[in-house]
Amino acid sequence: MGYIISVLNNKGGVGKTTTTCNLSDSLGKQGHKVLVVDGDPQSNTSTMLLPSGTQIRKSLYDLFESDTELSFTSGHIYATKCKSVQIIPNINDTASLEPSMISEAPISLLRLRNSLRGFANDNFDYVIIDNPPNMGTFVLCNLYASDFAIVPILAKSSFSVDGLIKAVNLIKDIKEKVNPDLKFLRLLINSVDRRTAISRAITEQVSQVFDQDQIFITQIPISTAFEKAEAGKEPVFKNYATSTGAAAFRELAKELTSIIG
Ligand SMILES: Nc1ncnc2c1ncn2[C@@H]1O[C@H](COP(=O)(O)OP(=O)(O)O)[C@@H](O)[C@H]1O
Ligand SMILES: [Mg+2]
Repeated sequence: MGYIISVLNNKGGVGKTTTTCNLSDSLGKQGHKVLVVDGDPQSNTSTMLLPSGTQIRKSLYDLFESDTELSFTSGHIYATKCKSVQIIPNINDTASLEPSMISEAPISLLRLRNSLRGFANDNFDYVIIDNPPNMGTFVLCNLYASDFAIVPILAKSSFSVDGLIKAVNLIKDIKEKVNPDLKFLRLLINSVDRRTAISRAITEQVSQVFDQDQIFITQIPISTAFEKAEAGKEPVFKNYATSTGAAAFRELAKELTSIIG
């Protein structure tokens, strides 16, 4: 009960937000209770999942700023457009907290962990945390709070194995020093087009560096549905449920629950 999963890659545009929103939606529709934590001050996940017109008063900002006892009545948890999915949203102002969080480290860096873990365990099956595209303060806070990390990579352009190894090493380092529960779960190969040589080459390249049980069998295809859905500020399931992209996230949710059920 209450597995906390960070979606992590220090590169932008690889599908962290897409994965957070669509995997969460699939898990919710498959009968699981899901909490999304928008760990990126850019707040794209919040925009995508909150019903339009939602007034955000309390958010992740408050959980980073002071010690907080999280509850369904504490004001930090909001309904989303997706069945069985709730969210702790983020706001752009959270970025301005970083200097004071660094000067108050380590206690400030453990606040999310301290407020989230017990609450998640008691009330949710899965908590999915979106992350900003860096390896900075907020990524540390999010990983300190997590049990697992999923690392999406793009199959449509060359990528850095170095970057991936850095992410895996960061996870190992945090596991040793701060959060013994943290495990690298799987790489997720996103934006796959099986017709192209680059997609096949990248799939081949990662399977030479990573073991079979470090890569999701499910791959996410390139699908115009994601961009169209994003333009309408919806996850892909709302209007594009029959797209290949939506089908892939349904499969991914099943694969995930079969691994860490
Ligand atoms: N499989 C895919 N097919 C087509 N477009 C995609 C796919 N995955 C992500 N995108 C698009 O790529 C852009 C970047 O994705 P996003 O999830 O925001 O990346 P990140 O959060 O890692 O910066 C978005 O416009 C998104 O809709
Ligand atoms: Mg993002």
